[in-house]
Amino acid sequence: GDHEVACVNSTSDMIISALPSQRGWTTSELKQFQGFWLDDWVMPGVLSLQEKFCGKSDHVVLTSSPKSGTTWLKALLFSITNRSSYKFDDAVDDGNPLLSRNPHVSVPYIDFNATEHLDDPNPDLSLLSTHLPYSLLPKSMIESGCRFVHVMREPKDLFISLWHFAVELRKARDQPTLPLDDAFDMFCNGLSQYGPYWDYELEYWNASLKCPDKFCIMTYEDLMKRPDYNVRKLASFIEKPFTAAEEDEGVVEAIVTFCSFDKLSNLEVNRTKTSSLRKAHVVPNKVLFRKATIGDWKNYLIDKQRERIDQTTYQKFQGTDLLD
Ligand code: A3P
Repeated sequence: GDHEVACVNSTSDMIISALPSQRGWTTSELKQFQGFWLDDWVMPGVLSLQEKFCGKSDHVVLTSSPKSGTTWLKALLFSITNRSSYKFDDAVDDGNPLLSRNPHVSVPYIDFNATEHLDDPNPDLSLLSTHLPYSLLPKSMIESGCRFVHVMREPKDLFISLWHFAVELRKARDQPTLPLDDAFDMFCNGLSQYGPYWDYELEYWNASLKCPDKFCIMTYEDLMKRPDYNVRKLASFIEKPFTAAEEDEGVVEAIVTFCSFDKLSNLEVNRTKTSSLRKAHVVPNKVLFRKATIGDWKNYLIDKQRERIDQTTYQKFQGTDLLD
């Protein structure tokens, strides 16, 4: 009853207020929870998720550190999964939700209190997504034997993307800007959303070594270079490989084009509307689409900064395939 709910809330409030805390990148503080830094406003959802989430073996869970290409993968996975229903022609409104809503609505984050924010009448509930590190995933998800699609991005580009995102959100909320050098130190010290970035990636990498058939690991860079190849790989991974007829009709190419940065970022919904990833966390869709290039860090980082990030990456990822 009500009493029980009140107790649960105050217990979680107590847990959260006892966590180590640091100034965050946007309006929120970062809380350190079991080795990772999470925005304070995601914490209540994370705690209730660990208790209440119900895993299913047919779930496909997209996992990513923020700014790795999550929005893109959401569009691709939704399109691959629901491809029999839509034409992937942005000139024809065939009811494809990606034409009228941001991809984050169709493939919801579970971090932010499961489905409370869903306003899409037809989300594909077999597709889920989370920024949570592997060790913070609900037990029932891991035990369900579900599949994970994990996307990674080169850390210097990821950092530059993350910094711009914070700057834009601050602007939208009339807050003073965040100097690049401050953000850089925070990132290298592990103080970023769901960071340390390197520990985050190592956890997923190690999990994938234990259950290789449950993981499909992608990189932003390889997706840019070989989108068609990767779309076929994703389809096979979720056990919906493209048929010969679909190949003849050019469905792969249609999905790749439809989900491309140029197409998605130019849709009216993504230029002018906002999405609420959770009720209190409203994001203008256009900040999810910036430049989408490889190596943009060269326009921002000085040599000393490049060296520092690269050295950390080398030390942390040594002995894994993640350095390739
Ligand atoms: P940049 O800031 O480098 O441009 P996420 O979706 O995980 O938040 O990642 C955001 C990054 O992905 C941004 O990178 C954004 O521009 C880029 N992006 C968004 N949609 C994309 C798409 N359809 N194709 C390629 N990159 C995309």
